[in-house]
Amino acid sequence: MGSPRRQSNTEVLLDKALEGAREAGAEVEKVLVSKLKISPCLEIYACLKDGNCAIKDDMQSLYKKLLEADHIIFASPIFFYSITSQAKAIIDRCQALWVRKHVLGMGGEDKRVRRGVFISIGATRGEKLFDGAMLTVKYFFDAIGVKYSGDLLVRGIDNKGQIEEYPAALEDTFRLGQELVRGSRDGQ
Ligand SMILES: Cc1cc2nc3c(=O)[nH]c(=O)nc-3n(C[C@H](O)[C@H](O)[C@H](O)COP(=O)(O)O)c2cc1C
Repeated sequence: MGSPRRQSNTEVLLDKALEGAREAGAEVEKVLVSKLKISPCLEIYACLKDGNCAIKDDMQSLYKKLLEADHIIFASPIFFYSITSQAKAIIDRCQALWVRKHVLGMGGEDKRVRRGVFISIGATRGEKLFDGAMLTVKYFFDAIGVKYSGDLLVRGIDNKGQIEEYPAALEDTFRLGQELVRGSRDGQ
């Protein structure tokens, strides 16, 4: 959950998706990135040695969760046509996992098909509102060995809790969570 505010529009959507995932049989865990202490990537490149990041903070336990999860829901509102800086810090720190895969050739033994979906929301309605964020999340999923399998993108929502007035979006996100677990979004 990449929004810094609690009970945010993003969190309401994410909770519905997690409800759907649970309903489809998954055990779920929600990570609130704003509660974690995560440094931005410092470009030390210690990860080139063995794929491990030298910065010892909350990211160390998050690496484990990101690699263990069968599926991932990444949720962030749009901040300046991208994801929030809290969410981006996590992605940048996954450079260590990108290095494992693309430089060190590690991770080939994991044969699971891991799927990921992206939930996002923004205040305006422009056609390109989610383009930047979607590209970032797609390449993040690729770095951690997750297949981009769908998204739920909602325009025109600004005030805290406003998303509650859009039951269709809440139903769509519940279904997204269900389909993520069932694999029926796999073809996207
Ligand atoms: C720093 C900041 C930057 C934002 N940038 C954009 C933007 O580029 N485009 C947009 O449509 N909305 C933008 N918004 C509005 C949020 O996307 C919108 O309020 C959203 O509903 C917040 O989601 P949340 O309640 O999950 O935090 C911005 C809001 C903030 C605080």
